[in-house]
Amino acid sequence: MTLQATNLKNKIWFLGRGFAEYLLMFDLNLENLKNCRILDCNAGASSFCCHMNHQGFDVVAADILYGQNPHIMERISENDFRTLMDAHHDLEDKVDWNFFKNQEEMIQYRIKTYQNFSKDYKKEETEHYVNAELPHLPFLDNSFHLVLSSHLLFLYDDRLDYQFHLDSIKEMLRVSSQEVRIYPLVKLRGQGEHSDYVNQIINDLSTEYRVRIQKVNYQFRKGANEMMCIWKKGLGESHCGLTVYDALEVEGK
Ligand SMILES: C[S@@+](CC[C@H](N)C(=O)[O-])C[C@H]1O[C@@H](n2cnc3c(N)ncnc32)[C@H](O)[C@@H]1O
Repeated sequence: MTLQATNLKNKIWFLGRGFAEYLLMFDLNLENLKNCRILDCNAGASSFCCHMNHQGFDVVAADILYGQNPHIMERISENDFRTLMDAHHDLEDKVDWNFFKNQEEMIQYRIKTYQNFSKDYKKEETEHYVNAELPHLPFLDNSFHLVLSSHLLFLYDDRLDYQFHLDSIKEMLRVSSQEVRIYPLVKLRGQGEHSDYVNQIINDLSTEYRVRIQKVNYQFRKGANEMMCIWKKGLGESHCGLTVYDALEVEGK
């Protein structure tokens, strides 16, 4: 995978989801994360890292595009915004207007998220935003308690092959002492069904790891209301409270 993947046919979006979406996508309860070090992998222009660190949590974001000149990132994001606006008609039958009331609200939210990311990135570039190209991560074993990865694996299974998925997930497990969570499990070019790789990953990891498919209280793309949780066998159930799925309390967006 190289930066060429940001071009047209094989384009992978840089625009990211906002803080509230992250809490819902990964079923996160902030009370359980107080002593956790978290890695947001392929974080893109999302605002989770920014908001979490401002609230005193310990989050690092990693992405193949970090480290680029901020002007290039700005151009990529502007291009993503244009595509998003143009996609209006294509979107209607693919998405669930529940978290967002309509396209206009979604776009305003994405703009706000991008602005929050961008401001923080320019300020915190070296400390919290790390250049990384999966399937390799520049971190020591067990550097984080929880590793999150959204909107790359499974979703883009038409351009990222199975070996890339397996290697990337094993790499995330290497740097995590407790748990890896991946969202969503659906494929981009489908009608809301799982990527075929979901079952293959479960089979390939099942001797060493526990894998659980967990419903979450978020859905934008139809069918995208599940995450995959993976942790080492023998870890038990209550490290950092991460495997305790409490109800979410998110106020506003
Ligand atoms: C659709 S965005 C998802 C951003 C965020 N995680 C979210 O859910 O909103 C996908 C991100 O994956 C990044 N990416 C693509 N290939 C990658 C790789 N091999 N290693 C790390 N990041 C990659 C892209 O640069 C992009 O920012």
